[in-house]
Parts: sequence; structure tokens; C-alpha cells
Amino acid sequence: MDEPHADPRDELFEIATSVRALVEWYDSTGAWGLPLAPARDVEPAYPAAEPHAAPPPPNPRAAAPAADRRPVPSDSTFAQPAQFTPPPERAQVPQYVPPAPPAERPQRPAAARPEARTPEARIEQLRVLASEVASCTRCRLAERRTQTVFARGNPLSELCFVGEGPGVEEDLAGEPFVGPAGQLLDKMIAAMGYRPGEVYICNIVKCRPPENRKPQPDEMEACKGYLASQLELARPRYIVALGATAIQGLLGTTEGITKLRGKWKMYRGTPVMPTFHPAYLLRQPSAKREVWTDLQEVMARLGKKPPARG
Ligand code: URA
Repeated sequence: MDEPHADPRDELFEIATSVRALVEWYDSTGAWGLPLAPARDVEPAYPAAEPHAAPPPPNPRAAAPAADRRPVPSDSTFAQPAQFTPPPERAQVPQYVPPAPPAERPQRPAAARPEARTPEARIEQLRVLASEVASCTRCRLAERRTQTVFARGNPLSELCFVGEGPGVEEDLAGEPFVGPAGQLLDKMIAAMGYRPGEVYICNIVKCRPPENRKPQPDEMEACKGYLASQLELARPRYIVALGATAIQGLLGTTEGITKLRGKWKMYRGTPVMPTFHPAYLLRQPSAKREVWTDLQEVMARLGKKPPARG
């Protein structure tokens, strides 16, 4: 609280200075006039303070030495309150235009608000999310896609595979992993003992990067919220990240897949096994052995045995 004034003229001077500062600030912002006082017949929002039963005790600091106080202005300073006349060109207060929200900030999609608790509700919300994604224009990949590629398989599966992004075949089909890499992925999934369509498959980005290039960091960032919502609704027990882009997109790391593969990581509470991308295995079939080791780690956690060879 401010110190009480020993001399009432000091206080008057301070009030006048504050009012002048306020009016000057209004003037500089183009606003003018003072806020209206509340109408008399409006009930106060809170009860009036009880009057003091006794005067408040004297404040020991009130008796500050006169040298500490502001000089008292001459009486003429307060003779006439200055009339404030708005300059004509400022009489119109400019209209406030709220700033546009930043386009690339990933916003939590409406479909992903996790009210969905039953499996049916989660599937329905995933459908809503997929249709939000279908009209997404958050990044430049929207300009050249044929369609968005959301997911395939069972959204309520215990196991989810996350790849990089759609290629040319996926862009045309509207489903992830339908090209040559997808065919190899299906064989890996079958080797783990799952029937087709039993696991969930999706990508870091939902639109095809042109010329099959890697998605750029801002494109991954723009799509990040969709994947987060998708996985929050699907709730797999385990995730397999296929390749560097997948694990980098999930973890926000820049470490390479050679270093990361085979080591459990966590994505928002879900264990993730990073391994090589099937497209890499098509070029480097000898790496299948390492991938099989990684997938066996996942199977062990899930209590899954490879199907008997017939
Ligand atoms: N590669 C991926 O990472 N995802 C696909 O959907 C297809 C190929």
C-alpha cells in the first residue's frame, strides 16, 4: 500500500499527476474519454466494506522527514482542470482485429478430445479425426497430394507400426504401406503371428512428400498433433517405429536409426521399438536379421509366438 501523506497537497499532486498520465496515455493510443461509472441501480458485485469501528492505528512511516517528500506545487497548478478535447482525426477508435492464429502450430484436433472411452467411441473419433486430416492444409504437402493417407488395419490392435509417410502407391490408394515396402511389411507382420488387418499401421506424415523425399521437419511438426491424437485414441500396447523418420518424429530426436534400433524407447507412455524401414530391407536384405531380432523383442513382451511353419 502507498504511504499515507502527511500533507494533503502532496496527495492531491500525486492524483493530478496520475490523471494527467492516464489522459496522455489515452491520447497516445487514440482512445479518449473515461470509463463510465457503474449505473446507480446496479447491485454491487460484492458487499460494501464495513465502516471501521475505530480509526486505523497511526502508520509510523507517516512521519517521514520533509526532505523525502515531493515539492509542493504552487496553487496555480490546480487552478483549472484542463479540458481534454480529442483531436478530430482520433475521435474514431480503431476496430480491434484479432491476429490470425499461426498456421503451422499443431492444434489439438477436435476429434481427439479424449472423451471417447468405449472402443466404439474411439473408433468413431478416429473416423472424425481422419476426416479432419482429409481437409488439412497445415503444410505444403497438402498442395500436391491426391488424398491424405490416415491408417489401415485394426485401430484397437495391441500393436501399431509407424512409418514415414505415403509414397506414390499409397497416395493413389489412400492406404499406408501398399507398395513394395508394404508387401514386405505384411510378411514381417505375418511372421510375428498376426493375420492381415490385425495390427494398426500409420505414418508420421499423412500426405505424400513429392518425389518420395523425406518429410521436412516443419511438415513433421505440422502433422505431429494428428499422430498424437491418433495414437491416443488407438492406444496400442506397443509401437514399432519403422526407420529413422518414424522414430525421430515420435521422439523428437535427431539420432540415427542404426544407433537407436533394437533399444526400447517411450512415446507418451507407450513403449516403442525402433527398427529398420522395410524399404531399407529391400535394398539391404542382410539387415532382415536385425529387424527380426527387434520384432522378437516385441513379440516376447506381447507373449506372442511365431506361427508354426506348415
Ligand atoms: N513408406 C512409409 O513409410 N509409409 C508408407 O505408407 C509407405 C511407404
